[in-house]
Amino acid sequence: MVDPEITFVLGTRPEIIKLAPVIRCCDRRDIPYSILHTGQHYSDELDTVFFDQLELPAPDYNLEVGSGRHGQQTAAMLAGIEEIILEDEPSVVFVQGDTNSVLAGALALSKLDIPVGHIEAGLRSFDRDMPEETNRVVADHVGDYLFAPTEHSQEYLRDEGIDHGRIFVTGNTIVDAVKQHRQLAREKSTVLEEMGVADKSYGLLTAHRAENVDVQERFEGLLEGVGRVASAFEMGVIYPIHPRAQAQLDELELTVPDSITVVESQDYLDFLQLEQDADLIMTDSGGVQEEACILGVPCVTLRDNTERPETVEVGANLLAGVDPEEILSCATQMVARETNWSNPFGSGDASDQILNSMLADGTSFGSNSDTTQE
Ligand code: UD1
Ligand code: UDP
Repeated sequence: MVDPEITFVLGTRPEIIKLAPVIRCCDRRDIPYSILHTGQHYSDELDTVFFDQLELPAPDYNLEVGSGRHGQQTAAMLAGIEEIILEDEPSVVFVQGDTNSVLAGALALSKLDIPVGHIEAGLRSFDRDMPEETNRVVADHVGDYLFAPTEHSQEYLRDEGIDHGRIFVTGNTIVDAVKQHRQLAREKSTVLEEMGVADKSYGLLTAHRAENVDVQERFEGLLEGVGRVASAFEMGVIYPIHPRAQAQLDELELTVPDSITVVESQDYLDFLQLEQDADLIMTDSGGVQEEACILGVPCVTLRDNTERPETVEVGANLLAGVDPEEILSCATQMVARETNWSNPFGSGDASDQILNSMLADGTSFGSNSDTTQE
């Protein structure tokens, strides 16, 4: 490894997917970087499958912190990140999103003399019961460069008194990721044939949030509601399951309605293919709400709030919570909607915009780094 100008701290599935376009951008612009994996996600289906399929270099470091209580997990990351950054001294460290890996990265860097850039800054659910909300707020308040995906997220940051000079509206790198892989998924993925489903004849479900799957009544309500949607629209529902949700299904001995087919978590191309050909997406995932909106597929969010209000404002998403009747009602409204909403998350050049903002602010990444765009 050459001396990195940028260190990417990442640890979970959505961070790998959303940082992949920025990492590729560094490759294209000859900016030396390193990847520091916290090890928050470690199962192949949440981790290495994405490095392989997205053709990312293996992480330079892996702290292998694994699963654990929030404090324990975050503390282990904090200590490990500090040690490596002090040794490598990059010009800047990037974190992405709202996981414990982001909290640890942002906090560690806030005490060092190296700036930290928070990609996907300014998202707010205003629900402090969610661990992710604490992580977002802390990362934004200690971050030196805040890359807000939309004007909306910029406003939230300003409302919290954050210095305007630290905020850059860049779009969300998920648009870059979808643009880079959408067609590839169509050409390469055989997942529909393998699952025996036809285009626009099925629903797609993801549910993994602690506030849903760790609470028996909520997980039961969610499954019952999705089952009612499946019956009402005579469609099967495919549920690629996160290991957390699988563990809870087993632990709570929940019965999944027959109309819901539980399958393993999918790789990115197969999952994108399942998303773009679905009739309806039902999810509690942040990234999946965004992708449904970008792909023009109706979405029902199985949560009481969302930090992606833009998806609701453009007409791509409705918040149902986990009440079965409300899930059915929202699904009924969404399948009847026109899907010609506009994508609020940018045009797919967020990665370039992020690097350009840093350059404009005086950061130097070496000789070739200002070669912009493909
Ligand atoms: C984490 C993030 C969440 C994000 C999600 C993306 C936090 C607080 N939560 O949730 O915001 O939406 O990642 O997928 O950072 N497990 C495995 N294999 C793994 C990782 C986890 O089996 O590789 C299981 C373990 O039983 C573990 C549980 O999942 O206890 C939860 O893992 P954890 O990383 O704490 O949170 P996620 O639910 O994955
Ligand atoms: N995803 C995937 N395979 C799956 C489920 C999701 O590749 O089986 C991708 C999805 O396309 C999105 C990201 O994972 O880009 C979302 O991650 P997740 O739902 O784990 O986390 P969140 O976005 O809620 O933090």
